[in-house]
Amino acid sequence: MALWGGRFSEEPADAVFALSRSVHFDWRLAPYDLRSSLAHLDVLESSGLLTQDVAAQIRKALRELLAEVASGVFAYNASDEDVHSALERGLTEKLGEIGGSLRAGRSRNDQVATDLRLYAIDAMLDTATKIIALQEALLAKAAEYGDAPSVGFTHMQHAQPVLFGHELAKHAHAFNRDLDRIDDWLARTSVSPLGSGALSGSSLPLSPEATATALGFKRTAGNSIDGVSDRDFVAEALFILAMVGNHLSRIGEEWCILATTEFGWAHVADAFSTGSSIMPQKKNPDVAELARGKAGRLIGNLSGVLAMLKGLPFAYNRDLQEDKEPLFDSFDTLALVLPAVTGMVATTSFDRAKMAAAAPAGFSLATEVADFLVRAHIPFAIAHEAAGKCVALAESKGIELHQISDQDFASVHPALTPAIRDVLTVEGALTSRTTYGGTAPAAVARQLAILKSEVTAFEANFSAKIQAFSGMMSA
Ligand code: ARG
Repeated sequence: MALWGGRFSEEPADAVFALSRSVHFDWRLAPYDLRSSLAHLDVLESSGLLTQDVAAQIRKALRELLAEVASGVFAYNASDEDVHSALERGLTEKLGEIGGSLRAGRSRNDQVATDLRLYAIDAMLDTATKIIALQEALLAKAAEYGDAPSVGFTHMQHAQPVLFGHELAKHAHAFNRDLDRIDDWLARTSVSPLGSGALSGSSLPLSPEATATALGFKRTAGNSIDGVSDRDFVAEALFILAMVGNHLSRIGEEWCILATTEFGWAHVADAFSTGSSIMPQKKNPDVAELARGKAGRLIGNLSGVLAMLKGLPFAYNRDLQEDKEPLFDSFDTLALVLPAVTGMVATTSFDRAKMAAAAPAGFSLATEVADFLVRAHIPFAIAHEAAGKCVALAESKGIELHQISDQDFASVHPALTPAIRDVLTVEGALTSRTTYGGTAPAAVARQLAILKSEVTAFEANFSAKIQAFSGMMSA
């Protein structure tokens, strides 16, 4: 059923209907559309535009529809164009012509902008919960391997020894930034466009402030033209989700490498691996690979929406209908990837012996030699040169740094006394890195404690917001 028709003498051509139809994807906005209709109804009633009797009938029908949409008893049909027209059909089927009353003072333009904000807030809160679950899995693993020496890499080459718990914890910091962004985004997205009408507000005695409050928004759009055309919240959400995807992809890449036969550090649980249809020995890290691969589509969704918004005239243009599928897809994608990665992290075990054996290899203790000289007041540039000579010497003799003789050390630099041996151990290198955020066991323990309290605070913050949102939805 079209929501217009008075001035038209023909039905839209099939091709037009097929092109412009959105109900098959925007149907998921139905609960938010019904909830905002209830808020709009209250205002129509309190302003006297609808009698109490009519308002009561519509309210009852809207509540029935909420339940029927949830249970699937009411669904869209082949002739519905979008979620708004399908729900108006539902209302009219129940009430006859008074079912069309809610369109007073409201346009699909402010309606869809409101619905999409509500949906995005709901989905973003769910995403935050899933990110927190992954952080908890990372923190549990980090605590488990908080005392396991391994080697860290730069340029994928052995760099310096680090505790493996330190490696795992780094990912939780990245997700902290994502949660921070989500919280900022929530504050900025909490603006109600309802009341903007088609673009200019309304001549009817409505109260956009009242509907904003009823729907849990902090503010009301300050400009009705901007209110109906602002999709910054969509683009920003897509950026946040793409960034989460990037963080997941880096975990994915790390897991793929650590699970290779060459590394053999990570052993992913069978339940989070897949096999090969031809090679019976294979155990493939598909979760890690999909985490890596899905980042591409999340970035694509962001790019697509930014391109659609670029140069778009104000106020509403049908182009804006193209905001939904990418947004839905990004939320859906992360709803799949986050729990899978969480499970993969939680069930992976790491080979302590292999990591410990790798810790001093590749002359990863060379910085210790340079730092030793710096403590003896040798300028770092000279210290670096001397440490480099020690590496060259050890390499030419086919030995490790700690196997260099006292005499050879002294010949490289007189300040390289036998005391150098005290720092030429993985343990010495690790325990000396006590700076804030460093890899010393005490520093890592402190880092994990801080992270834990930060994650707990995020968890409390988001669960309060989830509760408030679901309270609003069921009001
Ligand atoms: N399905 C439309 C969308 O998603 C709803 C708004 C339609 N507004 C209009 N003036 N045709 O954007």
